[in-house]
Amino acid sequence: MMKIEVILKPVELHEIRTLNLSAGLRETVCVVFDVLRATSTFVTALHNGAKEIFPNPAESLAEHHKENRPEVLLGGERNGVKIHAFGRDYDFGNSPREYAPEKVKGKTIVSTTTNGTGALLGCSNAKVVLAGSFLNLRATAKYLSENNFKNILLICAGTGKNAALEDALAAGALCEMLSDGKTEVALSDAAQIALAAYQYAKGDLYATVCKSENAKRLLANPDLREDVLFCLQRDVFDLVAVLKNVPSWGPALSARGEAPA
Ligand code: MLT
Repeated sequence: MMKIEVILKPVELHEIRTLNLSAGLRETVCVVFDVLRATSTFVTALHNGAKEIFPNPAESLAEHHKENRPEVLLGGERNGVKIHAFGRDYDFGNSPREYAPEKVKGKTIVSTTTNGTGALLGCSNAKVVLAGSFLNLRATAKYLSENNFKNILLICAGTGKNAALEDALAAGALCEMLSDGKTEVALSDAAQIALAAYQYAKGDLYATVCKSENAKRLLANPDLREDVLFCLQRDVFDLVAVLKNVPSWGPALSARGEAPA
């Protein structure tokens, strides 16, 4: 049986890590959702040919990476906009639309965002860590089903310290896909909440997501408002984004599945 748990707020990940520190998440497969926009951006960059993406918790560590590997590209956001730190403008903000093939193909990217990168790093001791989004949901569901994983934790990265509606809806959509009858699935109460929310909203996902704090912030910025619709596209990338440790450098996302564009 596949057991699915969902955590909606960043503080819950901290609690799970603390409570399970000894066991860690070693027997758990984590899927991190930061729909607006980190995981949507990372999946897009990998689809467009990026070699790997290192999630970083802070600009200082991103700068350390850059100093030691000048060829890496820096991306990410603070308050939703591109970072300027340590005397340099980052190469990218956190809009998926910036990560075009001609800019990212074959490149290593170091990214730091408000919630998404921390959520990925916060579960990096799990059995498997995936970056999930609406863009690659079907590929992610297929990977989870085919590998017959038993314990699945869907991590909603949230907005600031709060739950993010769009992350919960994506977690609910994945719960719906995995509850397709082929695999026996046990949904926790939180997973059932996410599923119910998605099934309530799926008729007009965009209208529902536009009510979220993150979406309202992006929609208010003429340069970023198109990101909301972009990040809600369904299954446009047949790609599984897996977090794996790179010796000397730490965990990095890379693509399994489709050949990069
Ligand atoms: C985050 O990591 O908190 C989000 O991706 C923020 C954003 O992209 O604006």
